[in-house]
Amino acid sequence: MPPRPIIIDCDPGTDDAIALFLALASPELDVRLVTAVGGNVGLDHTLRNARALVGLTGKSIPVIAGAERPMLGAFVAEPRVHGHNGIGGITLPDGPPATPGVASDAIRDLLRAAAPGEITLVGIGPATNLGLALATEPALADRIAEIVLMTGAWAEGNVTPAAEFNAWNDPEALAIVLSCGRPVTLATLELTAQALCTPTWIAAQRPLPGICRQTACDILASVPPSKRLGGRGTPQHDACAIMWLIAPDLFTHRPAYASVDLTHGPGRGRTVIDRWGKTPGPTNTTLLDTLDSAAFFAKLADRLAALP
Ligand code: RIB
Ligand code: CA
Repeated sequence: MPPRPIIIDCDPGTDDAIALFLALASPELDVRLVTAVGGNVGLDHTLRNARALVGLTGKSIPVIAGAERPMLGAFVAEPRVHGHNGIGGITLPDGPPATPGVASDAIRDLLRAAAPGEITLVGIGPATNLGLALATEPALADRIAEIVLMTGAWAEGNVTPAAEFNAWNDPEALAIVLSCGRPVTLATLELTAQALCTPTWIAAQRPLPGICRQTACDILASVPPSKRLGGRGTPQHDACAIMWLIAPDLFTHRPAYASVDLTHGPGRGRTVIDRWGKTPGPTNTTLLDTLDSAAFFAKLADRLAALP
């Protein structure tokens, strides 16, 4: 199988960092473009972090700045989890300069040059850049093979009782992506809770060589254990979206109809995910259900070993 061409839109972000390392270490993927969006921290930090992380891998991949804020409403960061600079306060060597331009334009340019169904979009931050690209030129959706999103939850949220952080940050953008007509795969909080990184796993990686692996350990160790998940570790939300593309056999999944609450009350950003076929008409997503956690972390360790 030739490597799958992908675009990664991210808001690094401690778990985004692990996802980027995993993607850039995986021969199954051809990362054509990395775009940054304001999310876990401001765009100044997410862009710097994306450049630095790609730079550490030695891969020559364009990194382009995108939206500073959501389509509607104010920008809200999440420094409690990711630290003031988005990667746990860790300082990385500066990466190559960002490629000039704007993420949503670069995404459209890449799609326009692609064949039908050629490009996979991976969204692991607020969906603003993806939503802007699709709203600006909807016809380009036919160049998309699949859109894989870390977003949403069918039970409780993590930033509000109702909403997961990425969906909550820009629900209008998510609504655009969910209605674009192309295959959308969802890695929700219920799935990513099965990718819980423990201090034991980090300790096992620590003695092993590689600047990327050591940086991953530093970043992972900087994240407070998730109280929501019993304080046993930190969920590797974003790496789940990448792992689906490189090892789909680690997952089970089901068709589901997903929509997002665009009201401005306590439910804003809640993803309403019908797992049982009660919604008339076709489903619009593939919902990832279960993950082989041991195999996930074995594969992650294997891929980190392949990086510098
Ligand atoms: O809710 C988890 C998601 O929000 C992850 O993508 C994390 O990086 C933050 O962006
Ligand atoms: Ca993220």
